[in-house]
Amino acid sequence: MNTRTSHRMAESMKTVATTGELRSLLAMPRGKDRIALVPTMGCLHQGHVALMRRAKDFADIVVVSIYVNPLQFGPNEDFDAYPRSFEQDCAACESAGVDIVFHPQTLYPGGEAQVRLAAGGLADALCGAKRPGHFDGVAMAVAVLFNTVQPDVAVFGEKDWQQLAMIRRMVSDLQFPVEIIGVETVREANGLAMSSRNRYLSDAERQQALVLNKALNTMWKKAAEGESDAEVLISLGRNMLAGAGLQPEYLEIRDADDLTPISRIGHHVARAFIACQVGPARLIDNMPISNASISLKMNKMTEMP
Ligand code: PAJ
Repeated sequence: MNTRTSHRMAESMKTVATTGELRSLLAMPRGKDRIALVPTMGCLHQGHVALMRRAKDFADIVVVSIYVNPLQFGPNEDFDAYPRSFEQDCAACESAGVDIVFHPQTLYPGGEAQVRLAAGGLADALCGAKRPGHFDGVAMAVAVLFNTVQPDVAVFGEKDWQQLAMIRRMVSDLQFPVEIIGVETVREANGLAMSSRNRYLSDAERQQALVLNKALNTMWKKAAEGESDAEVLISLGRNMLAGAGLQPEYLEIRDADDLTPISRIGHHVARAFIACQVGPARLIDNMPISNASISLKMNKMTEMP
């Protein structure tokens, strides 16, 4: 629910491509109105829209950045093929009540950035293990966007849990004066986590991809019923994936905050993480895993499966 009275800066949404234009648009409201940033790489779907809506609960002015960040793609990854749909993205932003779309060609006015960030230990495991440098690139782009927009609040999706954890840590380490808000993963009715990369999937692959969510659900349910051995839960998930002809890049249970591995589900706030190549798309998903007493509480709050 939108709890703030909106002081939107103008009736129509503005689109700007340079830091200079953005800064002058934000100069007047800054200090009076709260500013929220929703960083994206475009090809927007309902998951992104949920972030924009949440941003409106926390701020008067919502800025969405659309920038396909080359630094977070490895040499053999899909930077060139990454779907781009600027016109449709603007329409989605406009109907979500976004005030400014910032779509820079580059984030670095001096050409290629020479001074870079290193994302640190949180970036070593899970996606970072397979995608070296990925989170360094994310940290760099997000830090520059924070400095450019200077938002009071920035909104990120829990679908990219490791990214969210790393950004929280970056904000704490580098002391960015910004509040980070996480938004629950938005799914298709069949459970598939929405992702810009779902566009790469054929109908058959889409069906196959459903097993990611099903495996996580089953692990969640088993844990809620009292299974506390992480290895047992992981084997359960792996078997389900194998049954659908898939082998995960990783399927792990880790501490939700510091991402250290967990062998027994107990008082830890744990999460199960999965990455899997399905046809041409590398998909990721995650879900909380907890023992019966905790998950009963959580079930009431969030109506998990
Ligand atoms: P992108 O993949 O476009 O995602 C932008 C934001 O949308 C991220 O915070 C992501 O977690 C969130 N998101 C994506 N799918 C979601 C879903 N199904 N439910 C809820 N939120 C979802 O993540 C990036 O771009 C980039 O790494 C970026 C942060 C912009 C830095 O370049």
